Amino acid sequence: MSTPRARLLIRDAQVVDPDGVRRANVLVEGDRILDADAPATAACREVLDASGLLLMPGVIDDQVHFREPGLEYKEDLASGSRACARGGVTTFLEMPNTRPATTTCGLLHEKLERAGRCALVNYGFFIGATTTNLADLRAADRTPGIKIFIGSSTGDLLVDEQAALERIFAGVTLPITAHCEDEATVRANAARLAGTTDVRDHSRIRDHAAALIATKRGVGLALRHGRRFHVLHVSTGAEVDFLRTVPPGLVTAEACLHHLWFTVEDYARLGSRVQMNPSIKTRDDVRALWAGLHDGTIQVVATDHAPHTLEEKARPYPESPSGLPAVENSLALMLDAAHRGLCTLPEIVRWMCEAPARTWDVVDRGRIAAGYFADLVLVDPGRTRVIRDEAQITKCGWSPWAGQSVTGWPVCTLVNGRIVFREEAGGAPWFAAAPAGREVTFDHARGGWWAGT
Ligand code: DOR
Repeated sequence: MSTPRARLLIRDAQVVDPDGVRRANVLVEGDRILDADAPATAACREVLDASGLLLMPGVIDDQVHFREPGLEYKEDLASGSRACARGGVTTFLEMPNTRPATTTCGLLHEKLERAGRCALVNYGFFIGATTTNLADLRAADRTPGIKIFIGSSTGDLLVDEQAALERIFAGVTLPITAHCEDEATVRANAARLAGTTDVRDHSRIRDHAAALIATKRGVGLALRHGRRFHVLHVSTGAEVDFLRTVPPGLVTAEACLHHLWFTVEDYARLGSRVQMNPSIKTRDDVRALWAGLHDGTIQVVATDHAPHTLEEKARPYPESPSGLPAVENSLALMLDAAHRGLCTLPEIVRWMCEAPARTWDVVDRGRIAAGYFADLVLVDPGRTRVIRDEAQITKCGWSPWAGQSVTGWPVCTLVNGRIVFREEAGGAPWFAAAPAGREVTFDHARGGWWAGT
């Protein structure tokens, strides 16, 4: 049995729960929360004074691309997980479009072993679908679920043949998630705009129709086969309108920071820095995504952190790759949005912590409650800082939000009860040397987001 000496008391914090903010002391014992409303005098070995600070559950980012194995010069699990720690992301779920792509149980387990050796935060990995790996998709465990690229993006994973999709949806039991952009529409648009070097055409090639057609297709498959299905990075108001008509039970959806922030007008200022798949859309789409979050049509906010070097990004379109980094700024940007009245602090906790945990059946993470792992972020809500390329932790060393002043920053991140990031006096980041991250456990028998609602 642990003695009180192994206890840490986080004293006098404004604790952000999914349904409100309360002033409390939180007692951590070892790797778990012992008491989410402890007396200020609780016996402990160490006290963290949190007066004036918010205490939030660590963010669970359910869509990142960390490039290991294969493209470690862009990012690796060590650098990506440090960037997470800095941003208050205590768990990442990583996508399979590495080199090689994560399409077998063996490759999935290899990624888990790699992360176990170096990750500063908790981790899980999706297995990628191909037209021929049904046996692996059926056998896979230790994973949040199956990722299908219904439209192609970075890497060579693509399953857009109807027969192959039907086989996958009929044959698996794990939850499914997908990149939804219709390949035929994208190819036809690209042929029409062949020869362009104007990055603004990216949003005409990967247009509104491409997103809506593929999202409808994925949701249709899920409903027909009775499978849980998570729509990644919804980018259009039309998809939000469609998702509002889908009966509750199986389908969840996600919005990403860049789709909530940028519009096609930003190409003039930012060029390929905001070239993403799905593409950024219009001001009306941005408004519709926020509305979809507020009314619960979209449950999750994630990043789709997808690092490429600035040299690669500087190639003329369409040779410039799609993707942008975001994990170290995502929570701060959402806090800034709350500061500007676009959302509330409890909504941030619902969208970035509780909803991803529920969607993927993450065991004992995603909220501040007794018995849960002590994955926690202390936030200074009044701290204002300008995002700068030079200060980024991600290996690619830039941010599409560079130059933006943001109010509300993580100042300390705990993973499994251990401090992994702290802002030192003067603002310099300090990181723990030893990996503190653990493999996340998924209990898929729970039934996901809709279970119990
Ligand atoms: O723009 C994107 N880049 N979208 C994705 O879905 C993949 C990502 C990448 O891995 O570069």
